[in-house]
Amino acid sequence: MGLGLAARSTLIAPSATLAMGAEARRLKAKGIEVLDFALGEPDFDTPANVQEAAFKAIRGGQTHYTPPAGIAELRDAVAMLYTRQHGLPTESSQVVISNGAKHSIHNALMAVCGPGDEVIIPAPYWVSYSDLVKLTGATPIVIPTTEAEGFKLSPERFLAAVNPRSKLLMINSPSNPTGVVYSRDEIIALADAVLTTNVGVLSDEIYEQLTYGSVQPTCFAALRPELADRTITISGVSKTYAMTGWRIGWAVGPVPVAKFMGDLQSQETSNPCSVSQWAALEAITGPQDSVAFMKAEFTKRRRFVLDKIEKLPGIECLAPGGAFYAFMNVRSTFGSTLSGRTINNSTDFCLAALAEANVALVMGSAFGAEGYARMSFATNMQTLEKGFAALERFLSST
Ligand SMILES: Cc1ncc(COP(=O)(O)O)c(C=O)c1O
Repeated sequence: MGLGLAARSTLIAPSATLAMGAEARRLKAKGIEVLDFALGEPDFDTPANVQEAAFKAIRGGQTHYTPPAGIAELRDAVAMLYTRQHGLPTESSQVVISNGAKHSIHNALMAVCGPGDEVIIPAPYWVSYSDLVKLTGATPIVIPTTEAEGFKLSPERFLAAVNPRSKLLMINSPSNPTGVVYSRDEIIALADAVLTTNVGVLSDEIYEQLTYGSVQPTCFAALRPELADRTITISGVSKTYAMTGWRIGWAVGPVPVAKFMGDLQSQETSNPCSVSQWAALEAITGPQDSVAFMKAEFTKRRRFVLDKIEKLPGIECLAPGGAFYAFMNVRSTFGSTLSGRTINNSTDFCLAALAEANVALVMGSAFGAEGYARMSFATNMQTLEKGFAALERFLSST
């Protein structure tokens, strides 16, 4: 008899984006050229000044345990970032550095949610949210939003979901997978609705620096003075500085929440990687020209992708205001046959696109939104060009 798994093991499924990435890698290992748009990971190298800071940290002996909540220099720098740039007065004691924003979200949920609590999640939502909520014993309450609503949660829909068990609202603007960014008026209206309840907020702002044209992100906790006490803000360096592998994210929240998160880390993971913390410090305090460069590249790719999608037969897409995803409405293909495969849902569509066109996308169902396929355009132009040529052929096939 093997070792029995805890009941908890049934609560989570492997991340669908990572699973699609793994399938794409499996095909690549067989020598097949896969046009990979599954992963939300900038293709750029980590900026040279950040790399240099890491080498310097290693050579300077910064290779030991650090305080569990992160080195004082980085916590101070994050506190300064929120105080000066986001208009949210922040003390270092409110900041916890973790092994990526995903880890920060897990720890934040562990700090405030438990059995009997409900967490309101507007869909489409980032793949990990509902499983991370379930791990705490709380119940995710998914509120579907439609393309016609701009994939945004209105104050009315939020208030209709609130009951005495409601503990937290999770919001993500700019959003993965839709790229949607709430306007200032929309997010203030939602914030004011939140303030009429006892519900707290986890605001995942990991794509805050990646917005297009005149679109502006907002720091939710800074919108009203009363929000700081009930909001946990999540961000990190992965997306802005092409540092996905370094695993540095953070949470900014009320001191007791931050203290618990630090204590949790002290028992579970100790500190985030010492060298990565010094690199992240350089990323956020050093020159920002690489951020401007990457943003300009993403802007070009976004334009290219939107122009190409417009020409794809039957496919539509709401223009993303931020992040680097196109959330394509593929519903018109349902009930049809593409390359000999019957397409009845977004999983069929994505599996057929991968097998027949070698294009890796992620099915909308993984984000709580059937009828869509997510394309990440954090990949180079050449791959995008080949990808759209392959998709055009695939969509014209029967
Ligand atoms: C919305 C959202 N939040 C959090 C994360 C996690 O980022 P990190 O690499 O810092 O764990 C991602 C990564 O895909 C994301 O899209």
